[in-house]
Amino acid sequence: MNSEAILELEGKRYSLPTVVGTENEKAVVISSLRDQTGYITLDDGYANTGSCQSRITFIDGEKGILRYRGIPIEELAEKSTFIETAYLLIYGELPTHAQLRRFSDLLTENQHLHEDMKHHFEGFPATAHPMAILSAMINASSCFYPGLMGRANKERFEVHAARLISQVRTIAAFSYRKSRGLPIIYPKPGYKYTANFLHMMFSEPYQDYELKPEVVKALDLIFLLHADHEQNCSTATVRMVASSQANLFACAAAGVCALWGPLHGGANQAVIEMLQDIHESGDDGSRFIAAAKDKNSGHRLMGFGHRVYKNYDPRARIIKAACDRLLNTLHINDPLLDIAKKLEETALQDEYFISRKLYPNVDFYSGIIMRALNIPVEMFTVIFAIGRMPGWIANFKEILDDPKSRIYRPRQIYQGPTLRHYVPIDQRG
Ligand code: ACO
Repeated sequence: MNSEAILELEGKRYSLPTVVGTENEKAVVISSLRDQTGYITLDDGYANTGSCQSRITFIDGEKGILRYRGIPIEELAEKSTFIETAYLLIYGELPTHAQLRRFSDLLTENQHLHEDMKHHFEGFPATAHPMAILSAMINASSCFYPGLMGRANKERFEVHAARLISQVRTIAAFSYRKSRGLPIIYPKPGYKYTANFLHMMFSEPYQDYELKPEVVKALDLIFLLHADHEQNCSTATVRMVASSQANLFACAAAGVCALWGPLHGGANQAVIEMLQDIHESGDDGSRFIAAAKDKNSGHRLMGFGHRVYKNYDPRARIIKAACDRLLNTLHINDPLLDIAKKLEETALQDEYFISRKLYPNVDFYSGIIMRALNIPVEMFTVIFAIGRMPGWIANFKEILDDPKSRIYRPRQIYQGPTLRHYVPIDQRG
C-alpha cells in the first residue's frame, strides 16, 4: 500500500497521497494542494517534478540505467535495429515477424513527400539551418493530410506514425541536398530505413552511393540510441503540445524546435565545434577545461553533464565503443577523437566535474561517428531528431490513448508589479 505524505503549513496538517512506480520511484501527488492549502509547488526547471506517469522509458540516473519498455539499452544496441526499436517504443512490445513486416511496409508506402512539398524547399535561403527547415517542413506536411486533425482520426494513427518516421528522413535528406545545391534523390523502395537515408543523402543521379554495412550499422545505432529518453526538454514539449489535442505533425515540429537548442540536441554540433576550436588553437584541452570551470567565461564543456544522469550516460559508453570500432574499420584517424578522450580523462579526474557528477553524455562522442560517416556538422541535430521521432510518437500516443488526459497548464508565482494604473503617454516621466 502506498504511504501518505503529511504536510504541515501555517499550523495545519494535510495528508497527500503518494504514488510508486514499477521501478520503485516515488512521488507525492500534489494535485489537490492548492485547493486544500492555497499553495502551489515551485520547481525551477521542473527538476523535481513528475509531469506524467509513463510506461515507455525508464532511467535510473544515479546508476546509469536506461531501458526502453523494460529492455536495457545495451541489449537493444547489440541485438535490435532502429525500426524494430521504434515499434517497441510506440506499441509497447517487440514486433512479431508479421508486425515488423507490416510496419516496414507502411514506412515504405509513406516515404514519399507530396510532390507539391518540394516547392517549399525552394523558399529557404542556402544558409538556413536544417533544423529550421525540418520543423517548418514537418508542420507544412500536415497540410497535405487534412485527416490528421482531431482525435477522431485515432484509427489512422499507425499510418500517420509511419508516415512521420519515414518522411522526416526524406525531408532531412532533401534539405541537405538543397543546402548544397545538389539534385534531390528519391528513396529506393528496396532499401531499408537507414540505408535509404544514406542513399538519399549521398547518391548521385548517375551513381549510387556505395553502402558499406559497417556505415549503415553505425548510423542505425545512432538512431536507436537517440530513440527515446523520457521527459527531456523536447519530449516534454511534444507532450505539452499534444495535451492541447494538436495533431501529431504539429507536436513533432514543436519537438524539433525544442531539440535544436545547444543545451539539448544542439549539443552534438557544439561538441564538434568545441573540439575543432581546441584542435585549431593547439590547446591540449586544459585551457578549455579551465574556462568551463569558470562561471564568468560563458563556456561549458559541451557533451558533459546531464539533468538526470549523475553517472556515465550508458548511451555515451556504447557510442564511444562504436566510435572506436568504426574508425578502426574505416582506417580513419580523427584527431578530434584523441582530443575528446583526453578531455574526458582530464575532466573525470578533476574535482570540479567529480563533485558535480558531470560525465560524458550521448552527444560527447556521437559527432565523431557522424563525421566519419561524412555527415556535415549542421546535420548532426537533424540526425538526433530522426532518431528521437519514435520516442515523441510513443509519448504522443500515451496522451492520445488516455481518456483522462488534461491540457498541460503549469502555474507560476507572480513577482511583477502589484496593481497600478494606466498613465497616458504625455504624462509619463
Ligand atoms: N561544463 C561545466 N560545468 C557544468 C556543465 C558543463 N558541461 N554542466 C553542468 N555544469 C555545472 C553547472 O555550472 C552547475 O555548477 P554550480 O553548481 O557550481 O552552479 C552544476 O554543474 C549543475 O549544473 P546545472 O546547469 O544546474 O545542470 P542542469 O541539470 O540544469 O543542466 C545540462 C544539464 C543542460 C545538460 C548541463 O549539464 C549542460 O549545459 N551541459 C552541456 C550541454 C550538453 O552537453 N547538453 C546535452 C545534454 S544531453 C541531451 O540533451 C541529449
